[in-house]
Amino acid sequence: MTQASARTHALALDAADPLRPLRGEFLVPRHRDREQIYFVGNSLGLQPRGARAHVLEVLDKWAAEAVEGHFSGDTAWMHYHALVREPLARLVGAQPEEVVAMNTLTVNLHLMLASFYRPTRERPAILVEAGAFPSDRHAVESQIRLHGFDPATDLVEVEADEPHGTLSMEAIARAIAEHGPRLALVLWPGVQYRTGQAFDLAEIARLAHAQGAAAGFDLAHAVGNLPLALHDAGADFAVWCHYKYVNAGPGAVAGCFVHARHARSGLPRMAGWWGHEAATRFLMGAQFVPAAGAEGWQLSNPPVLALAPLRASLELFDRAGGMAALRAKSEKLTGFLDQRVRQRLAGTLEILPPAEPERRGCQLSLRVAGGRERGRELFEYLRQTGILGDWREPDVIRISPVPLYNRFADVLRLVEEVEHWRGV
Ligand SMILES: Cc1ncc(COP(=O)(O)O)c(C=O)c1O
Repeated sequence: MTQASARTHALALDAADPLRPLRGEFLVPRHRDREQIYFVGNSLGLQPRGARAHVLEVLDKWAAEAVEGHFSGDTAWMHYHALVREPLARLVGAQPEEVVAMNTLTVNLHLMLASFYRPTRERPAILVEAGAFPSDRHAVESQIRLHGFDPATDLVEVEADEPHGTLSMEAIARAIAEHGPRLALVLWPGVQYRTGQAFDLAEIARLAHAQGAAAGFDLAHAVGNLPLALHDAGADFAVWCHYKYVNAGPGAVAGCFVHARHARSGLPRMAGWWGHEAATRFLMGAQFVPAAGAEGWQLSNPPVLALAPLRASLELFDRAGGMAALRAKSEKLTGFLDQRVRQRLAGTLEILPPAEPERRGCQLSLRVAGGRERGRELFEYLRQTGILGDWREPDVIRISPVPLYNRFADVLRLVEEVEHWRGV
């Protein structure tokens, strides 16, 4: 396809896109006299226009009602976290009782590890992917030490076995089988942050459970990116943030999933008063009675102002028709980027995630030929022309076309600008 016919094709795809109006629901930063081309939903999603109204509603309620705001109306702060429960459950394929919005990702990971990482001398180990996100690695390493074990022997890291640093399912299965009798927990990403590779969560949970280990997932890069079916996948727990593809703002309140089979299991946990069953919480008794389900892991009364943008964002996922509709567009959009890069930019950009759509989300991590200096040069050039991706050392630019607000024309412009840079 020539660039001219690619342009016609991109414009036709945009014109036929049923999700196209949703872009207007977001505030797109400007670059000079036009909108920036924003490919960084993998880092911080754009602001939904509705976020401001939801935040102002809380501020106004506080101004008008002060403490009474906890109890009055449909958005009483006492139950505010529950306003996001059902849309969140839809987003991750869970029952409402299995999810809760609370804290931030790493905090939730520690809370989950406190309950689901119960090491014994025979079974002290946690299995993760080599090159896991540093916060996850710090969390598991510190928990291993906290229990008196040694990360040198009890943190198992599965090395990439495919070109470009991705992992085959066979390598994961082999590692789980090899270390099985010593594994207390398998902690795995839904989408690997550096490569963009997506994983079969149900299969990983099945393999972990077959060895007697718990299965937990970090979905930071998967939620709002891929359709998830956490309940059916059988994960024991999952944690994620809402500031990337869920567009709930910097440092947004995070998410947590606990499978229904643990809802009333009385698992040991780090407890706080907001995790106490709602009906008797305000009797202020000394004994902790956990609320059923994921809410039983809450510690504090929720940061209502911080939760407000999440409501606005989740409304847009429902308006889009849910993750199935978004994924249908996402596969086309990222597929278009993949196809244009292979056709026009081979030799300049190398695509790191697997080519099969079911093994990646919207993000393509692109290695720039020529090393770090060339990579930085291209990244800066794109930024100067109003195209924003993000940079991962030493030579990777991550580009995430997000189906809620990116267009096929955005992808085309990126490819044209890289060609222009190369020709300069
Ligand atoms: C995969 C992954 N895990 C953990 C984190 C840490 O998240 P937080 O700072 O919200 O705890 C991030 C942040 O980007 C992430 O991408």
